[in-house]
Amino acid sequence: MKITLSVIKADIGSIGGHICPSQRLLETVERHVLQSRYDMAFIRDSYVSCTGDDIAILMTHTRGPGAEPIHKLAWDAFVAGTAEAKEQGLYGAGQDLLKDAFSGNIRGMGPAVAEMEFEERANEPFLFFAADKTDPGAYNLPLYLAFADPMNTPGLILAPSMAKGFKFVIMDVAHTEEDRTIELNTPEDMYDLAALLRDPERYVVESIWSRATGEQAVAACTTRLHNIAGTYTGKDDPVMLVRVQKSFPATGEVLAPYAIAPYVAGGMRGSHNMPLMPVGLNSSISYFDGPPVVSCAAFAMHNGKLTEPVDAFDHPFWDTVRNHAADKAMEIRRQGFFGAAMLPFSELEYTGIKEKLNELDRRFSVRGKEGRPRKVSAVGATS
Ligand code: F6R
Ligand code: MG
Ligand code: MG
Repeated sequence: MKITLSVIKADIGSIGGHICPSQRLLETVERHVLQSRYDMAFIRDSYVSCTGDDIAILMTHTRGPGAEPIHKLAWDAFVAGTAEAKEQGLYGAGQDLLKDAFSGNIRGMGPAVAEMEFEERANEPFLFFAADKTDPGAYNLPLYLAFADPMNTPGLILAPSMAKGFKFVIMDVAHTEEDRTIELNTPEDMYDLAALLRDPERYVVESIWSRATGEQAVAACTTRLHNIAGTYTGKDDPVMLVRVQKSFPATGEVLAPYAIAPYVAGGMRGSHNMPLMPVGLNSSISYFDGPPVVSCAAFAMHNGKLTEPVDAFDHPFWDTVRNHAADKAMEIRRQGFFGAAMLPFSELEYTGIKEKLNELDRRFSVRGKEGRPRKVSAVGATS
């Protein structure tokens, strides 16, 4: 049977700053989803969870990606949640709802979306990832390693069903007028793929497809909030769906790269590089408004019905990784605002520094050849 997985997530308010939503807020969103689902037989199942300050609604249904009733249900659930968040005085209530009224598709309205439709296998294992305090490019490295590198994924050389490699669809997220994408095939385009994925602020994996079967393995969100709102409105905090096993990498091959805890953009004020820490489901954030976290719920599914989620990072192995990530976080924080610790100018989420630099720019002077200062300088002016 053809099933669509849709995950839609938003930050609509949290306790203690940007730490985590309240229990009442989560329950309000969940209640709304369950009540609305009642009238919509095409929705097979749902799961509501949080990661850091974000709430994600995962739905299984038969209406395909971009289905209006699914997107509207999520939007309305977030609107209902926002009312509750305001009632409780939660911080940033309704923060990610950037438009006033729903208009057919939730994409471009603030919430992050990842969706894929496929013919369900006899057993259908998949992983649902949610990250907080980072942006969609955070998945670039883990996906590259899991789907293209035999050093990480022995299946690429051991499993005949994976030997043909994968097709990556990459989006240029700086191009905001419309979707600008490129398709690259591994193994032959490996170097080109690496050349793009090394820049996670610009190029983001949107989907990955098996070249052996043509089936979709990955759907990731590519929303960049500051590209929608034109100003700082919080980090994008991406969600992702990954089908696993058989002609796709095994669960362990998809999870393994997270042991690196790579530095990603997004800690404190969306403006710092911090290690990506794998955490348990429904975890909050803490140190330096971070570090950026990623959670993973593993599911099996049959006819669109989900099992209970299994917490993929809730295993003693990941305690060591978390300690390593904490060490990396403290190490980079030792250098404060300096160099690689803070994001480049183009990625800073607050405008204060732009104003400061413009002000300072006016005070620069240019020395003439003979060493005497000329009067005014426009050199290096920032806009
Ligand atoms: C939020 C985040 C935080 C905030 C910071 C300041 O996702 O990354 O680091 O940017 O707590 O928040 P405001 O500007 O709301 O006071
Ligand atoms: Mg968030
Ligand atoms: Mg937030």
